[in-house]
Amino acid sequence: MGGRLPLTVLGAGYLGITHAACMASLGFDVLGVDTDQGRVDRLNAGNLPIYEPGLGEVLRAGRVAGRLRFTTSYREVAAFGDVHFICTGTPQRPGGNQADLSQVHACVATLAPLLGRPCLVVGKSTVPVGTARGLAAQLGDACPGAELAWNPEFLREGTAVADTLSPDRIVAGVTSGSAERMLRRVYARPLACGASFLVTSLETAELAKAAANAFLATKISFINAMAEVCEAAGGDVRALADILGADPRIGPAFLRAGLGYGGGCLPKDVRAFVARAEELGCGASLAFLREVDAINLRRRARTADLALELAGGDLTGVPVCVLGAAFKPGSDDVRDSPALDVAQILAGMGALVTVYDPAALGNARRARPDLGYAPTLADAARGAHVVLLLTEWPEFAALTPGGLGGLVARRTLIDARNVLDPGAWRGAGWDYRALGVAGGAEPARRPAGAVCMPGDRLADRGDGVAAGGGA
Ligand code: UGA
Repeated sequence: MGGRLPLTVLGAGYLGITHAACMASLGFDVLGVDTDQGRVDRLNAGNLPIYEPGLGEVLRAGRVAGRLRFTTSYREVAAFGDVHFICTGTPQRPGGNQADLSQVHACVATLAPLLGRPCLVVGKSTVPVGTARGLAAQLGDACPGAELAWNPEFLREGTAVADTLSPDRIVAGVTSGSAERMLRRVYARPLACGASFLVTSLETAELAKAAANAFLATKISFINAMAEVCEAAGGDVRALADILGADPRIGPAFLRAGLGYGGGCLPKDVRAFVARAEELGCGASLAFLREVDAINLRRRARTADLALELAGGDLTGVPVCVLGAAFKPGSDDVRDSPALDVAQILAGMGALVTVYDPAALGNARRARPDLGYAPTLADAARGAHVVLLLTEWPEFAALTPGGLGGLVARRTLIDARNVLDPGAWRGAGWDYRALGVAGGAEPARRPAGAVCMPGDRLADRGDGVAAGGGA
């Protein structure tokens, strides 16, 4: 396993493309594999099938340098690589809370019998604890020289390139010194730049990812629970978050109160973690994560309630402008997007919803074709009776009361991400509402049948309205 150390990346999704391109930029020869021929052709032509700032340039640089290629052939991959990274998706299982591991299993089952020489297979996908041990046995049976390690990925959408090239920490779940040495070699550059290298068991490595995402979700739901209390008691959650965040033991990150978390990771990882704990007989240990999920989903219902109240208790035929479709700014990902869920609930209440998003309109249209969409912010806002800011894109945070006021029919705004200056908007005659500050009325009663999605959810919100579910 000396020389140039050829790497392969199994799965050309978000994680796989980023990992492949970044490894090529670190100087490795990289071959990526995906079963989708169209995607492979697109990547080989230097075109990104996803939206991720900076990744297109890294992909094209790797192609130009001759260090990065994609194929559909696992045979080619098996012959090429000394280290194979599993980067396939693990979405929420339809109809359940567990992770769907079919892609991970399919990729190992396809690769293992083709492996003809000693190599290291490295899992990066987010999997339930215990998965790696099973895959290691499967791999060892098929090819005695092949070994498994687990190396979870902590990258965030929107900053995926920087997170991959300059990670805070690298977790190496290994069963031998040689696997550890190989991973140190792969990550020599980030390690030289100060990343910490944490060597552990396969199980702890799998748990590290699940626990990290569960903790981040808990922090967001904690501040959103405080938002609920602030709404009831007359507090201001923004000020509260500033005060909490100033304590270095707590820290300000992930204390932005608002519409809550979404995306292809946090919601499904929290649910899968609870499901796995139940399988292991320690469900009580993670029971609090059900409440984390419930708080998160309640924010969506609360936002829709507020719109209903601002429309005078009836949204039938009311023009509503929804700003944001992506689950967070800097992304075109609409999986389990809080913004789209709220838009769907409002449409279910009879509102004439028009959604605008700077990057996610195409994906939103595909996921929720029944909603109305506009190509520009102005088109979405023109004539609106209620405006909801649901994803904190910079162009929304930069809106001015006068500018938006010139477009809408009524100056009514819900700032569900707490990014605007309440004083400025109220001063300009807007009925400005935010989540987590006093001033919103009691939760209004939604009409029966105002259901947004039949999506699977861990917690029943107890209010008869379904929310959540991946798009
Ligand atoms: C998350 C984790 O942050 C990554 O470390 C992890 O690798 C990734 O999941 C994954 O499992 O692959 P990501 O889903 O890209 O990354 O997005 P985050 O930046 O974590 O945001 C998640 C959600 O929380 C977004 O909807 C965001 O709007 C929301 N959020 C975040 C808040 O509502 N408040 C906050 O204070 C922070």
